[in-house]
Amino acid sequence: MKSILVTGGCGFIGTNFIRFLFDLPDEHFIVVNVDKLTYAANPENLADISHKYSDRYFFEKADICDFPKISNLIDKYEVDTIIHFAAESHVDRSIVGPSDFIRTNVFGTFTLLEVVRQRIEKGKSIRFHHVSTDEVYGSLGPTGYFYESSPYNPRSPYSASKAASDHLVRSYFATYGIPITISICSNNYGPYQFPEKLIPLMILSMLEGKELPVYGDGKNIRDWLYVMDHCSAVWLILNKGKIGETYNIGGENEWENIRLVEYLCELVARRTNVPSNRYKSLIRFVMDRPGHDRRYAINCDKIKTELGWKPTVIFEKGLEMTVDWYLNNLDWLNKVRSGEYIKWIEINYGNRL
Ligand code: NAD
Ligand code: TYD
Repeated sequence: MKSILVTGGCGFIGTNFIRFLFDLPDEHFIVVNVDKLTYAANPENLADISHKYSDRYFFEKADICDFPKISNLIDKYEVDTIIHFAAESHVDRSIVGPSDFIRTNVFGTFTLLEVVRQRIEKGKSIRFHHVSTDEVYGSLGPTGYFYESSPYNPRSPYSASKAASDHLVRSYFATYGIPITISICSNNYGPYQFPEKLIPLMILSMLEGKELPVYGDGKNIRDWLYVMDHCSAVWLILNKGKIGETYNIGGENEWENIRLVEYLCELVARRTNVPSNRYKSLIRFVMDRPGHDRRYAINCDKIKTELGWKPTVIFEKGLEMTVDWYLNNLDWLNKVRSGEYIKWIEINYGNRL
């Protein structure tokens, strides 16, 4: 029986990943979800899993920066695998307040690695998979792609903190022989994404009749991937990836922000029986994000050819599923926007939402 510790399992991708694990047929593992429960987390995302698999799913509220606590959990559950999702993840927040990003993304990753190093020194092997972002590579012009060999050039406090954590993970492989793998993924979308990120923010704002803020000229490009395709890639790397290696994961699906927002207006209009122009009229070009990366585009030939992965969800279909999920989960939206989140927004952005 494998004992898998997932960090950040109450956030967007972590939640989807744990759901993915429990959908696998005949897998023998227990999952320990370690999450600090920041504003971006909702433990109720996994209430059904917790109920159905009470003998194999365990939630532990803990900060990944807390060495003694993480160390105890590793022993308590005899963990042999760590999949590290926990992070502060929103670029705009990292611009307003970088310190939590450095703490969690850099010091938190370092703490996990130290706990693993201690075990390795005692002859116990713990596999460590680190989840990272294409933002570490910086910003592309109109052509070209990010490869695993591309130089790092992070340009926001968020991407700089993720880049630092990637370097730490690689250094622990080279120096201490910790069995690591790293995945570097493009923008994810799908259910359970916190409504401060582009796609859920736009859906929610349309439903509330609020303005749709598009940064700058709206021509920045992102490469979108359905979250479950990211989850399947991480699982494949964990099972078949080569120790010490980094794998790019992407959707080969580039969209200009403005084109995506207009498409979402049409999609939500169809679902809510409202003329799409009513939503499109809410679009506002607002002040650009400082240091806004122009284009991200991932080359993921390595994971495709070496491990046989490919994305399975067509973007238009995935967006439909996502819009439907948010429309059917308005309670979830209200819940995650209350409490800590609303306090932070009031302090930092005034009455933005
Ligand atoms: P998220 O913000 O939705 O969730 C992050 C989770 O981590 C939350 O549940 C939060 O409570 C938890 N967390 C934060 N600080 C913690 C701490 N100190 N200790 C324990 N738990 C803590 O983020 P996400 O979008 O699910 O991203 C997950 C990972 O994937 C991150 O490492 C991110 O950099 C990476 N990633 C995200 C995307 C994307 O498009 N969202 C793309 C590529 C890579
Ligand atoms: P985001 O979802 O924050 O992801 P990331 O910055 O990690 O790529 O933003 C996606 C793109 O959408 C990015 O180019 C910034 C832009 N954007 C807007 O134009 N308006 C918004 O309100 C937000 C949140 C993002």
